[in-house]
Amino acid sequence: MAESKAGGAGEGEGETARLWGGRFALSPAKQVEEFTSSLAVDRRLYREDIAGSIAHARMLGVAGIIPGADAQRLVKGLQAVRREFDEGRFVFADGDEDIHTAIERRLHKLLGAEVGGKLHTGRSRNDQVALDLRMYARTAIVEIGDSVCRLQTALLKLAQDHRGTVMPAYTHLQRAQPTTLGHHLLAYVAMLQRDFDRLQDAFDRADIMPLGSAAATGSSLPLKRELVAKELGFASISQNSLDAVSDRDFVVEIEAACALVMVHLSRLSEELVLWSSSEFGFVDLPDDYATGSSLMPQKKNPDVPELVRGRTGRVIGELTGMLAILKGLPLAYNRDLQGDKESFFAVADTTMSCLEILAKMLPRLRFNEGAMARAASDPALMATEVADYLVGKGIAFRRAHHLVGKAVRNAQTKRVSLADLEPADWQALDAAFGPEVTQLFDPQQALARRQTVGSSGPGAVKRALVRALLAVKRNRQWLAANKPTY
Ligand code: ARG
Repeated sequence: MAESKAGGAGEGEGETARLWGGRFALSPAKQVEEFTSSLAVDRRLYREDIAGSIAHARMLGVAGIIPGADAQRLVKGLQAVRREFDEGRFVFADGDEDIHTAIERRLHKLLGAEVGGKLHTGRSRNDQVALDLRMYARTAIVEIGDSVCRLQTALLKLAQDHRGTVMPAYTHLQRAQPTTLGHHLLAYVAMLQRDFDRLQDAFDRADIMPLGSAAATGSSLPLKRELVAKELGFASISQNSLDAVSDRDFVVEIEAACALVMVHLSRLSEELVLWSSSEFGFVDLPDDYATGSSLMPQKKNPDVPELVRGRTGRVIGELTGMLAILKGLPLAYNRDLQGDKESFFAVADTTMSCLEILAKMLPRLRFNEGAMARAASDPALMATEVADYLVGKGIAFRRAHHLVGKAVRNAQTKRVSLADLEPADWQALDAAFGPEVTQLFDPQQALARRQTVGSSGPGAVKRALVRALLAVKRNRQWLAANKPTY
């Protein structure tokens, strides 16, 4: 059993005095201290916490709630604490529960409890922690968004290089129709664009300033909340104090956006794993982005995409976990919410690192254009072309589909490919088949006939590339405009 020191909880101004110790006869038991501490996780919020406190202190001065000179001292003191962190000189004390208490304790030490003790006027850790996390969330969105753009750019470059590289499109992992690698990669650019849009959308709901909600019901002091919001670059202030301290929807939304990013990365990774197998042989992973086997000397394993695929599970799990934390909480703040940061940081870090490694790896991939072309040259992939050809002759698609299906069966019975059927074989199926039907089996021509928006024809892909480049440019402009400055 750990000892609880009698009378030590809130007395004096010592380095370890609790900020809330007044009503306690005993300090928390050692195990309770360890069990409840979030310092190991939330110490990374020091910049946000200090920037928030500086804005709060300035406001207290401007609003005349504390003397202007004290506000200035608080700001100077907080800047000094920030320097200690930046330079790696900050020393945590036993009993620092979280980053907020650690910083305030240090401030009391630097300025004396009389001035230092004024910082927390009209504020609670409940609105403070909500503020810090919202600030951090905005930064994280911009950083993740930046990585999304980098991966989009890598994909676009590859798509540009391979806009003429023919490969099969698959459904049910069965060869379906010819497409190009460029078109295939542009599908991932489109997914990532939706991801970017979702992150951007989530930004707006994180961009709300909760300070002034205090512990739960707001403050009786004449706080100037708008001023704090302005200084910290928030678009607006929260409108209900109970909601503001207990709302973590913004965390859920960003995690959900990240979970979808990861699902997309996982699908891309799965394709790289498949394509790098001998069975496909579509792609060679660079040696420095693959690993070997400790036992089988010939092996080159796609561990990077496998880990991306695997870590997707963690992100999905964190999203589920966050929702589970919230689902039974009565209003307003409950300590359960402390789990938000662990969850959020894990999601943000994982998503970032997976985006980054793929963006670095993609330009190094060597695609085996011959293997892709061979896989796409199977004449069976042109069956839809033949059906569309009949549609052009006025035959209903259902009937066209049926006739070509019969041709496929005939070819199988004769043990020849669809392209090897004679004009007479086609004629025997239906008089609508002319001799030119045997000319329909060139994948390049099949692609050239695909001209509608979003299809895999060369013209459509060229226009899609231009649209995607413009979208990424717009993304980058938004990122530059929303880069946090603290
Ligand atoms: N460390 C806590 C958290 O991360 C904030 C402290 C609020 N604690 C409290 N007992 N009201 O959620």
